Amino acid sequence: MSTKIVIDCDPGHDDAIAILLALASPEVELIGVTTVAGNQTLDKTTRNALVTLEVGGRADIPVAAGADAPLSRELRTAAHVHGDSGLDGPELPEPRTQPVTEHAVDFLAEIIEGGTVLVPTAPLTNIALLLERHPEVRDRIEHIVWMGGAIGEGNVTPAAEFNAFVDPEAAAVVCASGIPLTMIGLDVTHKALFTRAHAERLREAGRAGRFVAELSDFFQRFHERSYGFEGSPIHDAMAVAHVIDPTLVTARTANVAVETSSELCDGRTVVDLRGVTGRPENADVGVDVDADRFLELLVSRIESLP
Ligand code: BDR
Ligand code: CA
Repeated sequence: MSTKIVIDCDPGHDDAIAILLALASPEVELIGVTTVAGNQTLDKTTRNALVTLEVGGRADIPVAAGADAPLSRELRTAAHVHGDSGLDGPELPEPRTQPVTEHAVDFLAEIIEGGTVLVPTAPLTNIALLLERHPEVRDRIEHIVWMGGAIGEGNVTPAAEFNAFVDPEAAAVVCASGIPLTMIGLDVTHKALFTRAHAERLREAGRAGRFVAELSDFFQRFHERSYGFEGSPIHDAMAVAHVIDPTLVTARTANVAVETSSELCDGRTVVDLRGVTGRPENADVGVDVDADRFLELLVSRIESLP
């Protein structure tokens, strides 16, 4: 039986690839996509979600637009990573579909049924709002698998990863929610790099494969310049992959707390791996990944799409 999932995202190159991985994987059933402001403004991330589903041949999957700004801060986007459109690289067709009229938070409350796994690959604004506005939903959420945070170095500041940094208050709400939570952070996503060889393999595949190759052409240039990496971490796809095959990522159970009021460390996910704080365990945190198996899963699944 496949697991019902919802991807809450801000596409975003790696968000788009995460959506395509879900579409190509029989272990999961993508029942909806919700969007939030993050990598780009909400209008752009929503448009990009629609385009991605169309490229994946599944424009029938509903998309709902959510929060256009973090809970209590100004939006800081990542145009330097994802470009002006949020999905620079391939030529983006005008989407033929529209998002549903409901706000993402109300849409989520409606479609989440017992056993649903939420896969947020963006700032956690929508998820925090969902828990606040529809508290009855929490018991129906089987698990939250979030791409965000870092035990070690951040990627926006030395202390913070982007999704945690953009809306630390929302991340704090979700970490404290008591809902089973897995954090797929930079500690694992930076260990698996999608290379030019992977892109060439996909360029020869179907429309979705070509789309991913062209996304990676753009995305990789940022990682070469900024990190000297010979490839790019497809962060968000690792969260979806974790639902598909939980043996890919090794996780440790720990307390995760999010810093919300520090000049230097806002958005830091403080992971207490040795239990020194006495704070209760509230998350499984990715500490290692079988990079080869993850990348082979990712590439072979996308290759199978028309
Ligand atoms: C995360 O930030 C975004 O730019 C990516 O889409 C990913 O979700 C990585 O820090
Ligand atoms: Ca993202």
